[in-house]
Amino acid sequence: MSDLIDILDKNKVPKHVAVIMDGNGRWAKERGQNRLEGHAMGVDSVRATLKAARELGVSYLTLYAFSTENWSRPKEEVDGLMDLLVHSITNELDELNENGVRLTAIGDIDGLPEKCSLSLKNAIKDTAKNKQITLVLALNYSSKWEITKAIQEISNDVSNNKLLASEITDSLVNSYLSTKEIPDPELLIRTSGEHRISNFLLWQIAYTEFYFTDVHWPDFRRDDFLEAILDYQKRERRFGKVSEQLITDK
Ligand code: FPP
Repeated sequence: MSDLIDILDKNKVPKHVAVIMDGNGRWAKERGQNRLEGHAMGVDSVRATLKAARELGVSYLTLYAFSTENWSRPKEEVDGLMDLLVHSITNELDELNENGVRLTAIGDIDGLPEKCSLSLKNAIKDTAKNKQITLVLALNYSSKWEITKAIQEISNDVSNNKLLASEITDSLVNSYLSTKEIPDPELLIRTSGEHRISNFLLWQIAYTEFYFTDVHWPDFRRDDFLEAILDYQKRERRFGKVSEQLITDK
């Protein structure tokens, strides 16, 4: 059987792919298992997706690992997820370094349990010089939180005469977001059949292509990722223009 990667256009690989990893709970329920077992299996999917993204030459992979809304889940699940994160980050650190993966995070990292924020900050520091791919973990993240914080900071800077209201542009707003050093994603994947954005990167996805799959996150593997890229490559991205203009722009 041919490898999907061979039919992909290497000149049309998205620079940044973002993923809403969904369906861990349903995957576990279908097997009569605890939700946490679904999350634990989801770590294998993270590994497979990161590997495929690296192999393909994607520069940024952002994963929605824990939203600000996820705190309202049962305490046992929240605690289990935090333990899983600490455990995964610590365990994978050598592998990240061996594969040139730079780890970074977006979200309210200081609002995470200390053991989690410390291991995360340590891994971010330890992988800072890696250049193959950047893995962005969205943790204790929500887009409305991020945009609200940016508005507060911009307002403060205007009040303190560091900034004029007339200087507030699209790119200035960008520079107050936690993604300021990350290009906007060209592709957003959501697994497990839901067609929602769930408070994720609302500002950054203005021109992003969406790809939805019914596959639950713990079953998501290299071929599922490559299928999403193939689907993306078939689309025409017009950025508000008409097709004919795209031909003359080339
Ligand atoms: C959504 O499934 C999944 C999450 C909220 C957590 C995702 C976290 C992991 C896969 C572990 C991440 C680990 C690393 C190292 C990044 P759900 O629980 O909402 O599933 P459901 O909709 O079927 O209930």
